[in-house]
Amino acid sequence: MKNLIAPHGSDSLKPLYIEDSSERNSLIKASENMPHLLLNSAAAANAVMLGAGYFTPLDGYMDKKNATSVSENMITSDGLFWPVPIINLSKNIDGINVGDEIALLDPNVEGNPVLAIQKVSAIEKLSSEEVESMADKIFGTTDKEHPGVANFLSLGNNLISGKIKVLNFSYFPKEFPGTFATAPEIREMLSKARWSTTVAFQTRNPMHRAHEELCKMALDRINADGVLIHMTLGKLKAGDIPGDIRNAAIAKMVEIYFPENTVIISGFGFDMLYAGPREALLHAVFRQNAGCTHLIVGRDHAGVGDYYGPFEAQEIFESDVVKNSLKLKIFSADHTAYSKKLNEVVMMRDVKDHSKEDFVLLSGTKVREMLSNGEELPQEFARKEVAEILMKYYQSL
Ligand code: ADX
Repeated sequence: MKNLIAPHGSDSLKPLYIEDSSERNSLIKASENMPHLLLNSAAAANAVMLGAGYFTPLDGYMDKKNATSVSENMITSDGLFWPVPIINLSKNIDGINVGDEIALLDPNVEGNPVLAIQKVSAIEKLSSEEVESMADKIFGTTDKEHPGVANFLSLGNNLISGKIKVLNFSYFPKEFPGTFATAPEIREMLSKARWSTTVAFQTRNPMHRAHEELCKMALDRINADGVLIHMTLGKLKAGDIPGDIRNAAIAKMVEIYFPENTVIISGFGFDMLYAGPREALLHAVFRQNAGCTHLIVGRDHAGVGDYYGPFEAQEIFESDVVKNSLKLKIFSADHTAYSKKLNEVVMMRDVKDHSKEDFVLLSGTKVREMLSNGEELPQEFARKEVAEILMKYYQSL
């Protein structure tokens, strides 16, 4: 694996999953006698990402000083670039004391089995102003209509910090077999494929023609060995396409429309934040940890509604703290769409002579409306095999 890009802030990956099965089993046994805390989904997703090495070099949940510094300046108290606080915020701290080892229970698996063990190094209260200010820094807004903000403000105001040991990867391996993978596993796949230049494509959606071509343009312009289509497998907002349908649609598209051995499809267990620019940075950090040299950042990356400018998620990569810290580079893409004039998908900035009418443009709302009404999507917009899978899903609702 020598030829792969170094992980973030470390020479080696630091997955917090306990690999050794006898150690893991004895920790699971011991956890039965520990005070326990039922996590919220956000804290559970953080544990899964820490376990899977994606959040290298962090060793657990941040304390107040760290989380504040990260939210305000994108730097930990140790001087490490980090874009979003990785925290365990909780409403309830009954029976938990500083110094305890506690069992963190999984809210997303039936019976709430233990997900991780935390050594509690501090329990700090945040005032509601402090929680709001943190939300404002991460999301650029405190508007409760924003799904990420609404979720963040609902987590509680007790910050429980400390190192963790992760015991499993929650529901992801079972629900997404063959798709969910850890950062070491992705590095292994890249090594096996002998790729040293890999461009990651972040997605939470099925991929249409524009996304397909975006990946092909990136492959071509970066002269990359391959593209890692890397899906968000965690919680999405209402209205987003469920993971299994999206997986099926993406797999079909890759099978038919990409040259062999140029794509790896995989996914990671994290809930979508919809934090736009800050989330794009987090996406970049954990793709570097997964061995990718580039990340595609297109229009409204990780955005929602009109909270962010269409290219704000690219602009944030220009700041010094980012430029001096990340090894991964972004592939900045302009709005991409099918040109009726040229009969191909293009980036708008590459075709200055076009007007809006020269493109096939459909909003997400329009696409959903068409599929719900049983109307076929235009072939210029979606591959027919992809459109069929989506149609079947919408007609089953
Ligand atoms: S998200 O996870 O970033 O919210 P989404 O699946 O909507 O996911 O987009 C995946 C990636 O494709 C992002 O980098 C986004 O900016 C980019 N993208 C999506 N549609 C377009 C488009 N029409 N033109 C340019 N970039 C796009």
